[in-house]
Amino acid sequence: MSQAPSPLGTPVVRREGRDKVTGTARYAAEHTPPGCLYGRPVPATIARGRVDAVHADEALALPGVHAVLTHHNAPRLKEPDDPILAVLQNDRVPHRGWPVALVVADTPEGARAGAEALRITYETDGHDVLLTEDHPGLYTPEIVNGGYPAVRERGDTDRAFVTAPVQVDATYSVGALHNHPMEPHATTARWDDDGHLTVHDSSQGSTTVRDSLATAFGLRPQQITAVSEHVGGGFGSKGTPRPQTVLAAMAARHTGRPVKIALPRRQLAAVVGHRAPTIQHIRLGAELDGTLTAIDHEIITHTSTIKEFVEQAAVPTRIMYGSTTSRTAHRVVALDVPSPSWMRAPGEAPGMYALESAMDELASALGMDPVELRIRNDPAIEPDSGRAFSSRGLAACLEKGAARFGWYDRDPRPASREEGPLLLGTGVAAATYPVYIAASSASAHAAADGSYRIRVNATDIGTGARTVLAQIAADVLATPVDNVRTDIGSSELPDAPLAGGSSGTASWGWSVHKACTLLLRQLRERTGPVPADGLTVTADTQQETAGQSPYARHAFGAHFAEVAVHSRTGEVRLRRMLGVFAAGRILNSRTARSQFIGGMTMGIGMALTESSTMDPVFGDYTENDLASYHVPACADVQEIEAHWIDEEDPHLNPMGSKGIGEIGIVGAAAAVGNAVRHATGIRLRSLPLTPDTLL
Ligand code: MOS
Repeated sequence: MSQAPSPLGTPVVRREGRDKVTGTARYAAEHTPPGCLYGRPVPATIARGRVDAVHADEALALPGVHAVLTHHNAPRLKEPDDPILAVLQNDRVPHRGWPVALVVADTPEGARAGAEALRITYETDGHDVLLTEDHPGLYTPEIVNGGYPAVRERGDTDRAFVTAPVQVDATYSVGALHNHPMEPHATTARWDDDGHLTVHDSSQGSTTVRDSLATAFGLRPQQITAVSEHVGGGFGSKGTPRPQTVLAAMAARHTGRPVKIALPRRQLAAVVGHRAPTIQHIRLGAELDGTLTAIDHEIITHTSTIKEFVEQAAVPTRIMYGSTTSRTAHRVVALDVPSPSWMRAPGEAPGMYALESAMDELASALGMDPVELRIRNDPAIEPDSGRAFSSRGLAACLEKGAARFGWYDRDPRPASREEGPLLLGTGVAAATYPVYIAASSASAHAAADGSYRIRVNATDIGTGARTVLAQIAADVLATPVDNVRTDIGSSELPDAPLAGGSSGTASWGWSVHKACTLLLRQLRERTGPVPADGLTVTADTQQETAGQSPYARHAFGAHFAEVAVHSRTGEVRLRRMLGVFAAGRILNSRTARSQFIGGMTMGIGMALTESSTMDPVFGDYTENDLASYHVPACADVQEIEAHWIDEEDPHLNPMGSKGIGEIGIVGAAAAVGNAVRHATGIRLRSLPLTPDTLL
């Protein structure tokens, strides 16, 4: 076998790029089986109460309307693994936007007309949707998202804080945020005569979708095929199936025909999850030389009345900086709101906004450079657990970033740079994201013609999963990347975990690596040629991923931002942004850069424009489309760069990689906010930094 140079780390172009830009890549809503009908969910128009009656006669009389499903006639589900999937099972309305009916028609337009013709009456109860710092319903949960304990305390934090010579005591707030992937959630479902269910679903993991549907419909997993071939973004909102998946399967069973549901953008906000709002109280105590002696970070957040999801925003504070005392805690209240869920770097994104803003305030109070303050408090071991870090590149990212950005050219005094009516400033903030990994399986096949084929139910949510997995396989097999075909995106392939927690490539990649290693061994041990039907090896990483690592494993990073703030309009313009990341070995420099920049861009939105406003009377968020929920456009992102330091970490996986999908957003908003403070002298503690808040 000839030695090819390793393709790992090279900028291999993503395999499906051409298919995507020419429109030949098919997404979940672009699969139309013969006889397919279209479903339109009908959202509740009250914030809390019960459905009294659904008058469907007028809707059913419309041409092309086939059925109206309600809690009276919809198929009964077993108890689903996620309560948000228990739709049309009873008359309860837990929040505005909860699906209370589904209209099924020949065409999407017919279904929409049918939905508009439904007359639904409700019994309305009073609702409570507003998160406040002193809400009487606040309680301390046992665990928070990710399975972390809600409260951790080391030493006497109160005492250390009050006796510290330098103190920061501040409350930050991040409002609710919504994921809004470019491709709204969609499902096409059909039942075969033998009872087999097939769904094309816009999802971050179709093994998860298959298993969840099996639970809800009381089927064996082998009776379901879930396909997620191409996915137009998810950011966590497609990590688990959403109501349209279950509704499409229910409607297909009810009508005996395939049914497709593509959620309208305006329905997404209520049913696909959101980043829960957080009110964050931080107290930092330090010696005069900047050494931290007290870190106290408390989160107040909400969940819905149907499930407990607690945004784990204080968790990153447990690992960031050394301090002799530390307290991190979460409190939550169940409100009549849509269920919150994962949104890119849940926990880290809002939590690090607060912590990294507070660190900037501390640097100002000390009269110390904020890069230096962070490096001074860089711990040798993970403060919370006492474990050694498998690798920790924070200081290196800060140093490299400061050099590349020209950080030390700044005059540290606030409001010291003017350019006509503009005030200019720079800011820095750190980033972190944990290393997650889950068991996966994969198969590797050597064909008689010398080509290879990898099969694994990975999902490409825009990251380039096919491409990087082919690189991993080609590296092991010492063959050109183009000689490896990758099949992903169907539950008929070997089981694999979802694309979430920035763990996809590491999890899938390890099983691909293992299958290819075993295949190569077989090929080398053979004496004759590869048989006509080839050789196949299947492997899984149950054993390798079981148990906890003895090491604390996290990716780190540093963001640098320069802003121009208009002194008369309050408008903030980002001039440039630079991120440096330490995330193990970078496996594909092109797609990795794209993910870092994507995360940073989402952080710019979080800092400047994205906001979901709860209307306490109406009982829901008022922004539910891209005209009112402002994600950054190209003009908002003038100059943005992502770099990394090479990190060799033998304690991760055979590729030596950490996840990269989420860390780009972490800390980005703090860097922008700190730059605004430097430009103007105004310290805002609530996002987004809209012009009205600056004037
Ligand atoms: Mo990501 S928010 O873990 O899908």
